[in-house]
Amino acid sequence: MSLRYSICYAVCIVGLSVCSAVCAKERSGAEIYENICSNCHENGDFDAPKLKDFSAWKPRLAKGKRVLYQSAFKGLGDNMPARNEYEGHLSNREIYDTVNYMVKKTVQYSSSHELVASNPN
Ligand code: HEC
Repeated sequence: MSLRYSICYAVCIVGLSVCSAVCAKERSGAEIYENICSNCHENGDFDAPKLKDFSAWKPRLAKGKRVLYQSAFKGLGDNMPARNEYEGHLSNREIYDTVNYMVKKTVQYSSSHELVASNPN
């Protein structure tokens, strides 16, 4: 049992109601993307930047990842939901992992496709 879970169980025994949110097993960025974010980001619904569409992500990446994390925490514009608008609890770690997953997929895809053609260096 990891230290994190040991601490969680200790807290649960004490009877704090926050324990279920804290102890709930965290999902990977890929899982959360597939279950939640892909609803808009896979096909670009509501003009969401599509996964692997580097030109859609480029101006967003230029803002820096911290800004992207903030957008995922707080939402953006009319259609990008804040994390507390989803069913269930998305932890900080889950938000970071999911944004990282989306950025990594997009950058990897672009470097193996578009960028190679446009930028041989
Ligand atoms: C209901 C549709 C929808 C869902 C679900 C959704 N997004 Fe988005 N997302 C959008 C839209 C639309 C934008 C563009 C918003 C804008 O620029 O005004 C966006 C933009 C973003 C951006 C770029 C933010 C920026 O500052 O440029 C990130 C990062 C992002 N989404 C992450 C996520 C993550 C992570 C999830 C899942 C936890 C998710 N999105 C789920 C619609 C969605």
